[in-house]
Amino acid sequence: MNENRTTLVDTATSSQADRYAVFGHPIGHSKSPRIHKLFAEQTGQNLVYTAQEVPADTFKAAADAFFAAGGKGLNCTVPLKELAWNYANSLSEAAAAAKAVNTLALAADGSILGDNTDGIGLLNDLIANLRIELPGAAILILGAGGACRGILAPLLKQKPASLVIANRTPARAQAIADDFKPLFPVEACGYGALPGQSFNLIINATAASLSDELPPLPAGLLAANGTCYDLAYANRPTAFVRWGLANGAAKSVDGLGMLVEQAAEAFYIWRGRRPATAPVIGLLDAERQSADRNPDA
Ligand code: ATR
Repeated sequence: MNENRTTLVDTATSSQADRYAVFGHPIGHSKSPRIHKLFAEQTGQNLVYTAQEVPADTFKAAADAFFAAGGKGLNCTVPLKELAWNYANSLSEAAAAAKAVNTLALAADGSILGDNTDGIGLLNDLIANLRIELPGAAILILGAGGACRGILAPLLKQKPASLVIANRTPARAQAIADDFKPLFPVEACGYGALPGQSFNLIINATAASLSDELPPLPAGLLAANGTCYDLAYANRPTAFVRWGLANGAAKSVDGLGMLVEQAAEAFYIWRGRRPATAPVIGLLDAERQSADRNPDA
């Protein structure tokens, strides 16, 4: 990547720069503009990436206006991923399987491609960064919303020994298991069925982290040398990351790595360049730890 450092551009001021954005609601605390600015500097790409507050009922008009004004690509986050799936003119295999789109790209013929880089982002963090062995693993996913659905197909391609979805509302977990039955015998249950079972990898895909809550998890749920992974991320360890640490996890991490990795895949779709992710994850991790030590800084 060093050869590109001589072509650094000021991504914030160039009038020639290609325009990208993340749409979501709320979007105020998004780290995506910072991540893409770091990627652009690292690879010498001339682009501007902004965050735009877009409630669901204005998504179509906002996306139409963005592309009509020459925008090249969008990231879509909560609560817009299903709307973006509907908006795209064509879908990647990952987006079709997830029934959700987090990346829209303007194609050469003017059509809009919809992709989903969340699953590959998670896999890259688990496999390349954290060195987790997925083939043969017993995997438990907590939660049965869109976040669970988005990561299932890529996880199943890794050939785990088993995959269980546990959810507060068991019928939602069962509905996802039924959808994926042609691919893999996914099991579904409520939290009450977990005592006595144990897993090598537990992934928290519930929205509970956002309110620093935790589903009821029995002791012994995590196998020896197991991993806990929270899809959510925060400046302080989430309730689930803390549970993993208290329950003997070899690794218990939040989704900062996945966030950077899914952004890198979107960057690749748009720009054809692969930024190095490790320095960006390291920088953001260091920044949040220092923000936690100096909350008023
Ligand atoms: P997302 O698209 O982010 O997955 P979602 O579709 O609203 O969001 O799903 C949120 C998930 O978090 C659901 O599995 C939800 O459980 P229910 O299906 O029973 O509603 C789960 N969830 C939210 N708050 C929770 C809590 N406090 N404890 C346990 N599970 C919770």
